[in-house]
Amino acid sequence: MQNLILIGPMGSGKTTVGKQLAKRTRMDFVDSDHMIEERCGVSISTIFDIEGEDGFRKRETKMLSELCERNGIVLATGGGAVVSEENRILLRKGFVVYLKTSIETQLARTQKNQNRPLLENVDAETKLEELMEERGKLYEQEADLIVMSGERIVSKVVDEIIEAL
Ligand code: S3P
Repeated sequence: MQNLILIGPMGSGKTTVGKQLAKRTRMDFVDSDHMIEERCGVSISTIFDIEGEDGFRKRETKMLSELCERNGIVLATGGGAVVSEENRILLRKGFVVYLKTSIETQLARTQKNQNRPLLENVDAETKLEELMEERGKLYEQEADLIVMSGERIVSKVVDEIIEAL
């Protein structure tokens, strides 16, 4: 079975939606950032501290290439996964869903859950806007399906994805 791949910026709900989507479709849920943390035994923030963003991106590509070999998983990617062409080619093997959201929702969600090194010591709103400027087109271009994931109830977002499969 084809993998269901969730892309979108930080705070777009990839993990929350992914877990429910996996339950409803009886597929396994995998979060690539979580897998990287498990493998390294440290947080994403610590990887950024020690190896910089470049080091993290190499680990991310390696992890995505392993995970995209699997079948029938719901995969939540990190917000920057679409930046690398190598990653984009890997993700295209699956059915790619872009969870589109507003900067306000992203801000509210990322404030609740730290461990976002790109938002540390900067103005989070400005940074999220810059990242969207850089990546928004890529998310749209790579998506087989675009679903609004702002303030909506998670189960409605999941319904919409399932209906499109
Ligand atoms: C990143 C998003 C994060 C994580 C890392 C870099 C990004 O994942 O991969 O901090 O470049 O946008 P989430 O989108 O799950 O927060």
